[in-house]
Amino acid sequence: MLPHDDVDYGTPKRASDQQVTLEIDGQAVTVPAGTSLMRAAIEAGVSVPKLCATDSLEPFGSCRLCLVEIEGRRGFPASCTTPAEAGMKVRTQSDKLQKLRHDVMELYISDHPLDCLTCAANGDCELQDMAGTVGLRNVRYGMEGKNHLGAAKDESNPYFTYDASKCIVCNRCVRACEETQGTFALTISGRGFDSRVSPGQDQAFMDSECVSCGACVQACPTGTLQDKSVVALGMPTKSVVTTCAYCGVGCGFKAEVKGEQVVRMTPWKDGQANDGHSCVKGRFAWGYATHKDRITKPMVRERITDPWREVSWDEAIAHAASEFKRIQARHGHDAVGGITSSRCTNEEAYLVQKLIRAAFGNNNVDTCARVCHSPTGYGLGQTFGTSAGTQTFKSVEQSDVIMVIGANPTDAHPVFASRMKKRLREGAKLIVVDPRRTDLVASPHVAADFHLQLRPGTNVALVTALAHVIVTEGLLDELFIAERCEDRSFRQWREFVARADNSPEATEAVTGVPAREVRGAARLYATGGNAAIYYGLGVTEHAQGSTMVMGIANLAMATGNVGREGVGVNPLRGQNNVQGSCDMGSFPHELPGYRHVSDSTVRAEFEAAWGVALSAEPGLRIPNMFDAALEGSFKGLYVQGEDIVQSDPNTQHVTEALSRLECLVVQDIFLNETAKYAHVFLPGSSFLEKDGTFTNAERRISRVRKVMKPLGGLADWEVTVKLAEALGYPMPYAHPSQVMDEIARLTPSFRGVSYAKLDKLGSVQWPCNEDTAEAGTPTMHVDGFVRGKGRFVITQYVATAEKVTRRFPLVLTTGRILSQYNVGAQTRRTDNNRWHDEDRLEIHPHDAEERGLREGDWVGITSRAGETVLRAVLSERMQPGVVYTTFHFPESGANVITTDSSDWATNCPEYKVTAVQVSKVAQPSEWQRGYEAFNRQQLDALERRGEAAAAEAALVMGK
Ligand code: SF4
Ligand code: SF4
Ligand code: SF4
Ligand code: FES
Repeated sequence: MLPHDDVDYGTPKRASDQQVTLEIDGQAVTVPAGTSLMRAAIEAGVSVPKLCATDSLEPFGSCRLCLVEIEGRRGFPASCTTPAEAGMKVRTQSDKLQKLRHDVMELYISDHPLDCLTCAANGDCELQDMAGTVGLRNVRYGMEGKNHLGAAKDESNPYFTYDASKCIVCNRCVRACEETQGTFALTISGRGFDSRVSPGQDQAFMDSECVSCGACVQACPTGTLQDKSVVALGMPTKSVVTTCAYCGVGCGFKAEVKGEQVVRMTPWKDGQANDGHSCVKGRFAWGYATHKDRITKPMVRERITDPWREVSWDEAIAHAASEFKRIQARHGHDAVGGITSSRCTNEEAYLVQKLIRAAFGNNNVDTCARVCHSPTGYGLGQTFGTSAGTQTFKSVEQSDVIMVIGANPTDAHPVFASRMKKRLREGAKLIVVDPRRTDLVASPHVAADFHLQLRPGTNVALVTALAHVIVTEGLLDELFIAERCEDRSFRQWREFVARADNSPEATEAVTGVPAREVRGAARLYATGGNAAIYYGLGVTEHAQGSTMVMGIANLAMATGNVGREGVGVNPLRGQNNVQGSCDMGSFPHELPGYRHVSDSTVRAEFEAAWGVALSAEPGLRIPNMFDAALEGSFKGLYVQGEDIVQSDPNTQHVTEALSRLECLVVQDIFLNETAKYAHVFLPGSSFLEKDGTFTNAERRISRVRKVMKPLGGLADWEVTVKLAEALGYPMPYAHPSQVMDEIARLTPSFRGVSYAKLDKLGSVQWPCNEDTAEAGTPTMHVDGFVRGKGRFVITQYVATAEKVTRRFPLVLTTGRILSQYNVGAQTRRTDNNRWHDEDRLEIHPHDAEERGLREGDWVGITSRAGETVLRAVLSERMQPGVVYTTFHFPESGANVITTDSSDWATNCPEYKVTAVQVSKVAQPSEWQRGYEAFNRQQLDALERRGEAAAAEAALVMGK
């Protein structure tokens, strides 16, 4: 059974050490002090009518429907705004209350269009419910909403409508936008009968600062704010709890369906990662799952210039298996490998790495974390002993100082950003370390106390300077260090960071950050109370990405900010299951649970379970696979759910390597850029079509539940099982739960995980085993580090080889935007394109002026690796000398210009620093012209996929 709580308690839960006991309708009720009478009543099973109250928002007290009587007090107080007190005697029902409520409802209904039967909210409308609850049968005033019937609907947002004629001005939407989302896009304008909800400066929703998170739609008790999908399809008939397949926040959702058709996705109130909130992607951008571009039949071809040929699953799988076997027989065991997906489930990633290790017989497996968070794995492993964020998202509610380094959570992790902004509005201090002025630096009621706007590529110099201040100004947490950290490594580190050349004054010339700012930020972080660090790809995607992660860990240990609520070191993971795919053994040197392949004891356990001998040699990383393909020693690759052509750096190098493969098997829901170089295409399944689990950035394992049959007939895990069988290695699983059971048996940190437990608790956080609480471990390293004593590592700054020169005088850095996701394969196939339909180059007005560029001009961006052309946006978010773009559209070729420069420890590409020149141009780059021609050819090859089968059928008919 799921902990499925659809009851609305009217006001938020309160936490207090003090309990109060009162009497409600003759029943004794005990609640924490501060709880409203409304909540106390509903918790005791006594229902109280309400309209303006909902338990995700602070009470407002405007509708007067929730009135109660309190013995010994005059009047009829609103139960939503009145706190419970010990000894109170409360009555929720009386003739007088009934009359008052009836009159209130009569006024509401008199100004409401009485079109319930044709209203999209029919059956899901609190106004309708309340009219029934108070027994309203006649309306004396008889206006039937005519005051507002002429009000124009706002249909500007692609996903929801605003119909002012149905608005009861309860303010829930306004409060949701403020309290839950933190965007402050809505106000109530006008007075009395003319009151209406107004986005921005009386603008349409699409023209206002609304970010389409859906919180207002969720909060609206009437059909005023309504999902367009509900208007089009009608009310859903059932719901299935599942997990968002976009970012690493891992929000819980209810997929609301009619039969197998999704009608809407609503954020799950009990989802522990999101507490009932959502962003535009998870809430609304799910239509890609049934987009017409979905490929649902397997395809094969001999050469990538041939048309595709639709074949049966059996033929496609048999062909792929025989090709891999042929390649291994001819070129050796190590000539093939595979890439697991951070968008697929844990079970699917586990099966792909198992196939590679057990059926291919090598360790040539890697995953997209190679290009995002592999330095996190290395850096946190070295310092703390394990590769994962230390806290729950909720922990930020206990933080006094929040340092955000190289992350843009309002765009990339929006639901966490809302939670963080709430804490900042409550008074926590904020330090932003970023070359770009992100939204977090200044947004409504939030302003960074320090914005350390460093030059791209100088993170390590900055983090060491922060440490210098902490050490030399006596701000260390000596007790924590003495008890919890290695003495020797600490002393060496302390001596290193204290050197004058690491002072903020000495490093200012390198980082560009004024020394006084660095000193101020370091003092605040070390002395401001609970201090938490959240970081993103602006930390990892550098030549010194791993060094920077260790620098961050050093800061946290030096100040004692690890091992309790409100502190810690937290990588904000990009894709939904990047944590999980790493946990599942997707790296070439590690078996599931981050255990090295050379460890014979661990290998023996897997060998016994899997019934094969395993290689002790680490396999190839993704860049090594490309190099080996170009050298001719690597010939076959199985890629599940990743688009390496678009996401990996130096596109020309990647496509050249893939073109040399004899067999590239791509499993995906669309013909992505990588599939255009493939010989076998296996239809993938979206998160709506399968069972499994995702693990988010808090190590939280949540269920993904099937709401529709796989469009291609098989879920991704079933395809891998079939491929393994065809390779001669049976994998007899009947359901993904059996795969999880195997993971739990073989991985100590997962030993207590099972589908039964996930169904019971909603989610658990690893480590989850016999040594932890039933739901696992919310906070890591509480009594000691996973590795025992925390280890300090010396972080010597080494300037990247990717230097600006006269030829390439600007630094290009890359990032994401709220409406699009990663390579855009999903979001580009939704109405999210209304916000962002091309990648553009942000450039500072000074740099633009020097080059004679104006807003909207086409500009050529040239690096040592290649050239592409984008439109310019003049923006002071960038510092002069730095330009910025996103990488969501394949034709932009953002990765044509990024280079092979990578992290010294993990090969994570240095996406964040590319020296470029920018100039005005009149036509697309040579690469873009080549891409257009190749793309046309590949779309034609796809168009013709049915031809061979049709010709064969015609031949049979002719016979
Ligand atoms: S969708 Fe979100 S951001 Fe937009 S108005 Fe509603 S609550 Fe505010
Ligand atoms: S739009 Fe909905 S939530 Fe907002 S004030 Fe009107 S009825 Fe209330
Ligand atoms: S924040 Fe991330 S996980 Fe949550 S709804 Fe948005 S994309 Fe999905
Ligand atoms: S629910 Fe209490 S005043 Fe509206």
